[in-house]
Amino acid sequence: MVFNVERTMQGSALWAVCILVGIFNLACALKEIRWCSTSNLEMNKCNHMKEAFESAKIHPSISCVIAASALDCVKKIANKEADAVSLDGETFYQAAEQHKLKPVVGEKYDQEVGTLYYVVAVVRKSNTSITINNLKMLKSCHTGYDRTAGWNVPIGYLINTGKMPVKGCNIPQAVSEFFTQSCIPGAQHVNFPSNLCQLCIGDEQNENKCADNASERYFNDNGAFRCLAEQTGDIAFVKHSTVPENTDGNNPMTWAKDLNSSDYQLLCRDGSRAEVTDWKACHLARVPAHAVVVRLDTDGTAVFSTLDAAQKKFGITSAGFKVFDSALYDGKDLLFKDSTKEFVLIKNQTYQAWLGSEFLQSLSGLECYSMPNVLRWCTQSRGELLKCSDMAEAFNNKNLSPPIQCVSGDSPNDCMTKIKSKDIDAVTLDAGQIYTAGKLYGLVPAAAESYTNDNDGASYYAVAVVKKSSHNAFTIDQLKGKKSCHTGLSRTAGWNIPIGTLIERGDIKFNKCNIGKAVSEFFSASCVPGANQPDYPSSLCQLCIGNAKGKSKCVFGADERYSGYTGAFRCLEEVGDVAFVKHTTVFANTDGNNQEPWAVNLKSSDYQLLCLNGARAEVNQWKDCNLAVVPSHAVMVHPSTSITAVFDLLDRGQELFGNDTNPNGFKMFNSSAYGGNDLLFKDSTVRIIPVGEKTTYEDWLGKRYLEAIKRIECSGAMIPSTRSSLCLLILMLHSFFL
Ligand SMILES: *[C@@H]1O[C@H](CO)[C@@H](O)[C@H](O)[C@H]1NC(C)=O
Ligand SMILES: *[C@@H]1O[C@H](CO)[C@@H](O)[C@H](O)[C@H]1NC(C)=O
Ligand SMILES: *[C@@H]1O[C@H](CO)[C@@H](O)[C@H](O)[C@H]1NC(C)=O
Ligand SMILES: *[C@@H]1O[C@H](CO)[C@@H](O)[C@H](O)[C@H]1NC(C)=O
Ligand SMILES: *[C@@H]1O[C@H](CO)[C@@H](O)[C@H](O)[C@H]1NC(C)=O
Repeated sequence: MVFNVERTMQGSALWAVCILVGIFNLACALKEIRWCSTSNLEMNKCNHMKEAFESAKIHPSISCVIAASALDCVKKIANKEADAVSLDGETFYQAAEQHKLKPVVGEKYDQEVGTLYYVVAVVRKSNTSITINNLKMLKSCHTGYDRTAGWNVPIGYLINTGKMPVKGCNIPQAVSEFFTQSCIPGAQHVNFPSNLCQLCIGDEQNENKCADNASERYFNDNGAFRCLAEQTGDIAFVKHSTVPENTDGNNPMTWAKDLNSSDYQLLCRDGSRAEVTDWKACHLARVPAHAVVVRLDTDGTAVFSTLDAAQKKFGITSAGFKVFDSALYDGKDLLFKDSTKEFVLIKNQTYQAWLGSEFLQSLSGLECYSMPNVLRWCTQSRGELLKCSDMAEAFNNKNLSPPIQCVSGDSPNDCMTKIKSKDIDAVTLDAGQIYTAGKLYGLVPAAAESYTNDNDGASYYAVAVVKKSSHNAFTIDQLKGKKSCHTGLSRTAGWNIPIGTLIERGDIKFNKCNIGKAVSEFFSASCVPGANQPDYPSSLCQLCIGNAKGKSKCVFGADERYSGYTGAFRCLEEVGDVAFVKHTTVFANTDGNNQEPWAVNLKSSDYQLLCLNGARAEVNQWKDCNLAVVPSHAVMVHPSTSITAVFDLLDRGQELFGNDTNPNGFKMFNSSAYGGNDLLFKDSTVRIIPVGEKTTYEDWLGKRYLEAIKRIECSGAMIPSTRSSLCLLILMLHSFFL
């Protein structure tokens, strides 16, 4: 990422290059660097620096500009009133995108290049069950409110990964509901929940409890660790150096002198734990070193050439002016951090590369807008886009806000990626996709569909439908060799649940992830839309019929007439023995409810369900005769999006447009005007409901469903563990192409 410019490269050589490029590039005309200072102390040091550089004939020379704060410097640089300033990672994060700055020279400390320190989560070794995935309801110790190691990184990380739900963007409230009690010095704000300060102890006189300074004995990194060491809290968020500095005799104070570092462990992002010395591999985020930032059109090499010449003359060993020392000016870390050992040229001059993905993710978790300006909805087909545009217009005509904006995504996977990167805000996904969205993209449920009009009806039942027949009344135990109809590959009711069930029952045996082959050997023929891929046996597509022209056979989507719930049921009616659908599918397509020629004369009483106990039941007995309860489709969003705002908008919308007989034109839960089914929402949706307490994908999916989907991930016992994660990945990738 960064390298030291070769020592042999002289300033004059750089200028020679610049003269050539200079005709076309104003950046090279940098004769003077206007350095930005944020205080009188910095201004004093800067003026000394300017004189020292002048006397050493360092070019480009510098001059000094004063500003009110680091962010003010950023604005001055953007306005071309200043040229350079050294920023910490958080300020740079706030400034980089909006003001188009790039990092050109990094400060290097005792760490490796690019790193200031690592933020770690420390626990007592004796509390063996704690991992990063089960912090809820623990007691927590923090360095301070709004501080990097104790708040911004860990809380941002927990929000960004969906581990900590945030309602209405109220982060202090979310933290107070996540940890039972905490000590977060500085969180004694009147509007903050009081348990954020509950573990704090104040000074020796028990005063100044929760103060934002050293009067609170649990303040800062050492204090937060003390809070853990005294067993007040279960977990502490601190710098990687904090435990070594306070254990094994390194801190003589009473509370620390007998502590042994081997009694503590770190929690890693992957759910494992590690010894406190393993912080390089096991941390929440690497905090980037401070970096000198400039406008995109400034020649970074010229800035480096000045600083590099300066560090050779005025570095650590200098007798006169010292660039990395602030003591002479009665200050600390003036212009540069005093702990800087060296300046390094930054090679990849993008803020993303410099800040690093862990740090970026953490900070983006904290970005919370109480109400988004617009709600960008991810649409995945032309029909969806048309319906979405009508919805946006209908909502807008009724002054519902925020306005909806319709954006095209290529696939559920694409929508998830764009929501994760905050380019899109919301998409409706089925349970299988919710699993992927939560596990791999950190998205959270914001609202859900209800098909029954009650709030706990946020689920449907996966059923196996067969034709009623007195001479061939086969049961679930006799499915082998039958012809099967599926809604689609990796779909919940059509694939994950039935195949997971048949694996659990021992009917389908598979190993090494060859699930397609195993299914093709179990059924004699099938239609599994989406299985038209090279590594799937052709019998999985054998029953499929494609579109009206006979094209697009076995594709996933409306072009295959046997795809989706209605398609799978039609497949049963026309060619199959069993259809894996949901409990409402039969009713939606029989007794006159579907007027298409193939369905118009069908009667629900001609169908039955296969029960897990080997019986058959009538189609209205789905509550007792099903393969699994399935959580309903949910609107998934980035964890920093206000789920209250999303639900409120949809709720106000459905009051006007939810009912199919509404007089307002648009119908939220009817796709017939757009030539499709289940566009944006399932057509069987009765209304949109809030997710309530189920604010993570795991809460939403529930234990039973999670078990079923995990079985399908081919993580079976027969698979060597090294392969299983690869298998998981392959299957997840397949599920992306729904
Ligand atoms: C951790 O261990 C301590 C005793 O060693 C115990 O009091 C505490 O309840 C444990 N905490 C958790 C979360 O297991
Ligand atoms: C800490 O802040 C409190 C006010 O919150 C103040 O009373 C106290 O003197 C401060 N202590 C130190 C050491 O600065
Ligand atoms: C810390 O504990 C370990 C094992 O319990 C022991 O081997 C080691 O000597 C202890 N270190 C100190 C400094 O007491
Ligand atoms: C610089 O870093 C960014 C973000 O990490 C990356 O996308 C880009 O490819 C990198 N460029 C080079 C030239 O390495
Ligand atoms: C959807 O709307 C169309 C036309 O307005 C209507 O004929 C149809 O019955 C509706 N579908 C459902 C499932 O209500």
